[in-house]
Amino acid sequence: MKTQETKSQNQLPLPPGNLGLPVIGETISFLNDPDFATKRQKKYGNIFKTNIFGSATIMMIGADANRFLFSGENQNFTIKWPESVSVLLGPASLSIQTGSIHQTRRKLLSQAFQPRALASYTPAMVEITNSYLQQWANLGQLTWYPELRNYTFDVACKLLVGTDTTNDPHFTELFEEWVQGLFTLPIRLPWTRFSKALKSRDQLLAKIEEIILQRQRQPILATSSEQDALGLLLNATDEDGNSLSIEELKDQILTLLFAGHETLTSALASFCLLLAQNPEILAAARKEQQQIICTGELTSEHLKQMTYLDQILKEVLRVIPPVGGGFREVIQDCKFNGYHIPQGWSVLYQIGKTHQDTTIYKDAKNFDPERFNTDRAEDKSKPFSYVSFGGGMRECIGKEFAKLEMKIFAALLLRGYEWELVAGQNLDLEIVPTPKPRDGLKVIFRSIGVK
Ligand code: HEM
Repeated sequence: MKTQETKSQNQLPLPPGNLGLPVIGETISFLNDPDFATKRQKKYGNIFKTNIFGSATIMMIGADANRFLFSGENQNFTIKWPESVSVLLGPASLSIQTGSIHQTRRKLLSQAFQPRALASYTPAMVEITNSYLQQWANLGQLTWYPELRNYTFDVACKLLVGTDTTNDPHFTELFEEWVQGLFTLPIRLPWTRFSKALKSRDQLLAKIEEIILQRQRQPILATSSEQDALGLLLNATDEDGNSLSIEELKDQILTLLFAGHETLTSALASFCLLLAQNPEILAAARKEQQQIICTGELTSEHLKQMTYLDQILKEVLRVIPPVGGGFREVIQDCKFNGYHIPQGWSVLYQIGKTHQDTTIYKDAKNFDPERFNTDRAEDKSKPFSYVSFGGGMRECIGKEFAKLEMKIFAALLLRGYEWELVAGQNLDLEIVPTPKPRDGLKVIFRSIGVK
């Protein structure tokens, strides 16, 4: 039966498309042309083949494709990032692990993102956010992107691994260089971005090892429900009852620190940009804040009342998703929409293009937070049409942490500050590895004296 099925699949055609040049395929256009997927979607439809990062790859666009991919995890597909990403993250990273090890580590780490843990992070997030906002107001004019990066990295370090980065600016610089090597051709020559990123990885791992050793010497006293991610990993045992190896601890922490700040920086910058460009929505967002009376510090109870802000943040992640898509490897021949999906090929699902589907989203190009109000709820018309955080068993583990930090940042910013885009800057977005305004988002920033 199985062989008959495989035979009929193999007789189906491959998706249309072009495999490009030998070896490099279409990698250069993929990296440099922001309209790479749009052009091919116009020409071939929602499923097409290409060759990127050394692999024959099928790109799939839309809610149905997402559902097919997420539901086939571990059966038809397994995670497989391009080599540059997997080498830089390291073999013991949650994003690279597969099968039962992935499942047990995910279960363990998810404790750091449970509602109780998140509630315990709120006061610290509020405090760090207030302190950065005040610093920016003191500066008056700033290039926001690098500052936002320092802020999100600070929050990730304090809350996920219990360490203070403010006295080590070198840490964020190393991460910046490391990030530049992701999604590159993995060529090991001294001047390539990949080689430079590998060097940064070694230095980052050395710093992370210091943090781990320091914590082992001086454990933070906490009840099990209050443990941060590092505490959970340090107390965990593997399948044989042994503590996790230092090599695994380092890869896991590197991934959490990276994933915990890079995507958030992009998301916050997009929020600031889109609100500056949409003054009516900004005014409505401020109005909601004025209606929520808060005499002391902002708490989870106040945040719950900000439903319009939820819609805005969701729309920011729809219009400019920080993660463009996800890679998988086909581990078993299968078929989709009349095409053969061959074993050994890569598959890339597309978040940004899914969010532009005009059969789901009315005037999909417009920034319109009202599309997510309870009456319209456009994303609910079809499962997997909103996939900013992915889906299935690889859905973003830090989703609620990210949403909480975005909301605290946005609420405190709207309540106490105003910002204006500096004229004449380039606001086009660099897309890889995460969307970022080319000139780094230059703004004039001031306090408006209310909280
Ligand atoms: C707005 C912010 C964020 C966005 C848009 C985002 C998006 C995503 C997406 C789309 C995936 C799935 C990729 C795939 O299908 O292969 C993912 C996975 C992941 N994310 Fe996030 N993320 C965000 C923030 C965070 C934060 C704050 C953390 C940690 C604190 C985090 C940690 C991870 C990890 C570890 C994975 C891999 C999960 C696995 O493979 O089991 N992310 N994220």
